[in-house]
This record gives sequence, structure tokens and C-alpha cells, in this order.
Amino acid sequence: MQKRRILTGITTSGTPHIGNYVGAIRPAIAASRRADAESFYFLADYHALIKCGDPARVQQSTLEIAATWLAAGLDPDKVFFYRQSDIPEIPELTWFLTCVTAKGLLNRAHAYKAAVDANAASGEDEDAGVTAGLYMYPVLMAADILIFNAHEVPVGRDQIQHIEMARDIAQRFNHLYADGLARTDAAFTLPEARIDEQVATLPGTDGRKMSKSYNNTIPLWLPANELKKAILGIVTDSRAPGEPKDPDTSNIFALYQAFASAEETAAMRQAFADGIGWGDAKQKLFERIDAELAAPRARYEALIARPERIEEQLLAGAHKARERATPLLEKLRWTVGVRKLDDRPAAAAAKASDAAALPQLKSYREADGKFYFKLTDADGSVLLQSRGFDAPKDAGRLSAALVEAGDDAGALAPLLREALPADADATAGEAVLAALGALKADKLAKQAQKAASA
Ligand code: TRP
Repeated sequence: MQKRRILTGITTSGTPHIGNYVGAIRPAIAASRRADAESFYFLADYHALIKCGDPARVQQSTLEIAATWLAAGLDPDKVFFYRQSDIPEIPELTWFLTCVTAKGLLNRAHAYKAAVDANAASGEDEDAGVTAGLYMYPVLMAADILIFNAHEVPVGRDQIQHIEMARDIAQRFNHLYADGLARTDAAFTLPEARIDEQVATLPGTDGRKMSKSYNNTIPLWLPANELKKAILGIVTDSRAPGEPKDPDTSNIFALYQAFASAEETAAMRQAFADGIGWGDAKQKLFERIDAELAAPRARYEALIARPERIEEQLLAGAHKARERATPLLEKLRWTVGVRKLDDRPAAAAAKASDAAALPQLKSYREADGKFYFKLTDADGSVLLQSRGFDAPKDAGRLSAALVEAGDDAGALAPLLREALPADADATAGEAVLAALGALKADKLAKQAQKAASA
């Protein structure tokens, strides 16, 4: 059975926080253990350049995110784990896709439109501060996905439009280059977004969704004492210890639930009803999170201290991924016409099929020792069968004369009387006229070609 290919990219512009871990990293690692799937996880550093102009930040974030996925349990031997910029096929495919992508499609991308709208609202030129990189973001993302023909792309809701655009672009390429894709056996798979409804979006320290843009995150790998401080700083209401508290509106409870088992969660729900104090609840929350993160945190620290080993793993991952990407890109290059100049299979195939489509005059010798020829149409059925000649040159002269006469029935009549067995009907039917006419036309065309190249 063919495995489902699941692919997702992580933009390397930030430091992983607890929301990323619960919302993306942890479920992706669990999914990567599925036996019926192949997982592709990659560090989208080219995407990072679109929003981050700080080179040191891009490098540091790439290191942190790579170490995070490895520390959290991703097994690079079981998945494809690589850095976007190590796969040169991705930017090359980006260009091929760019050339078939409607500009109007990109005009409708949410992120670009939001930037234009913000400019309009503040009375600026509508493209002020908008780079072509931002504009092209969806095409680069389509190339990420299509180069591995991914079936599923697990993403957050904000990315659904990008997956739809990747489908549109793939469909358009498949349509425009249907012929070359068929010849190279390489059409794009249409990817689907997968939104995991189970996965919680975590509240940040101020109760709003945990997000870098709200500056309310808890970094994933804080040392235990700092993690505790961050948790103690989470905003709560002013209910005193002993007062019952509503778990369903509490960010402390939501965070706890994201790490706890069903039983632990039920026990905490009861504790809220019983009026647990916020300080105690936060202490329990810290202990629960720390219990899950302590071991991977130690791995993370060890990994991050040896960047050269992560580098090695990423290069190995790229090598493995390129075993898929390189052959596909080769087919795509051929498909769009980026070809070796002496590689002309299209012309050769067209010639071969022309030849097959022509009627044929074949000479042969029978067991009786005589020389014969026959005329067959394009699909091989016999139209004429000569009598036997003692000398091959007589058979040859007559068959050449038939081609010379072509579809001229008057010229053919005496020739046919001579060529055919005495008892055969010597009047040329439509099929014979058409076949000989085609052979004559072909002969003249070849003579003309030869004269032109001489
Ligand atoms: N745009 C995605 C994000 O910001 C990151 C990304 C880049 C991606 N390429 C991808 C996600 C390909 C899925 C597939 O989250």
C-alpha cells in the first residue's frame, strides 16, 4: 500500500514556546510514529527571511527549532527531517510554479491583502513596505509541499488559504503540462490541509491566545526555576483560597489540561470546585509541566551545546529528502522544456508514430522461391498481394511504380494488372488509392527534405 505523505514546515524566526509544543510539535511527533504514513518535517528558513531581516536570529532560531524537535522525540531515521535551504530543488520548483501562477491569485492572499489594507487605512501607497517575498510566500510554500507530493499538510487555520493556493497552482501546472507530465509519469498530488480540532490553542500568561505577537508566551525550554516564575506570573482573577473557581474560564486549568491525563484533569476540576488557591494551582501546574519537560529539556541542553551534530543530522536529512526531490525535479525540468539540447524524445516519438501511421509496401520471398510484395494499411491489414516473380528486380520495379503512380487510378490500372495474380480484381479500391497516395506523398516529402539539407 502506498503510504500517506504528511508534510509540514516551521518558520525559523522565533523561539519555541509551550503553545507551539502543545499545538504543533507534540501532535506531529505522535503522528510521525504512524506506520501507514511518511512524515516530512522541515525548517522553513527561506520563509523566515520574508519576515525576519536579522541574520543572527534566523540562524539561532533554526538551531533552536531543530534541537527542539529532536529533543521532543522526533526520530530522524523514521521521518524526513531537513532544512528548506538544503534542498535546491525547492527554489527551482518555485520558479516553475511562479511561471504558471496567476498574479490575481496572489493578490488575494490574506497576508498580502492585510498589508495592502493597512497601508490604505493609513493613507500610504498600497504597496509601501511590501516585499515581493511577502507576495511570493504562497508560491514558495506550494513548492515545499509539491516537491514531495504531500497528501496532507497539518497546519493552523491561518494557513488553510496557503494550502488551497498550493492546490490551485498544482492543478494549473498539471493541466498546462499534462502531456509532458504523462510522458515522465509525474503529475502533482493535490495536497489537503489537515486541521486537528482536538489540539488545544493554549492561553498565554495574560489569558489571550499564546502567541509571539502578544508577547505572552512561556518559552518551552526555560530552566525549571524560571519556568516556575513564569507560571507564578500568569494572570488570574482575585478569588481567594477556599472560594470555588470555574475551571472552564481559567487559563491555569486550560494549561494544566494540556499536559495532564484524564484522571489528573478530573481531580483538578474537583480541586477548583473545592476552592483550591491560585498559588497551589500554579504550583501543581508547574509540577505537571516540569514532569513532562524535564527529560526533553536535558536532551535539548545537550543538543544545543553541539550545533555541529545537529548540522550533520540536517545534512543527512537533506540527502535523504533529495533522493525524492531530485528525480522529480528532473522530470519537471524536462516537462517544462529545460532540456539537454540533444534530448529530443518528443520529436523522435512523433517521427516513430508518423511511421507507424503510414501504409507499407513490403517485399518478401516465399517457400516457392518466388519474390512477392504486399501493400498493407497503417494498421497492418493487407490491401494488395502481388503474384510471385522469378526475379526480385521485377517485384521491385513494380512496387516502385505503384508508389510513383500514387492515387492516380488511370496510371495504376495497367500496373496492377501486371502485378496482381491473373485471377485478381485489378481495379484499385478507395483504400488502395489512399494508401498509395500516402506513400507517394511521404516519398516526395523525404526527397524535398533531403534536397533542402544537401
Ligand atoms: N507558512 C507556514 C507557517 O507560517 C510555514 C510553512 C512553510 C509551511 N512552508 C510550509 C507549513 C509548507 C506547511 C507546509 O506556519
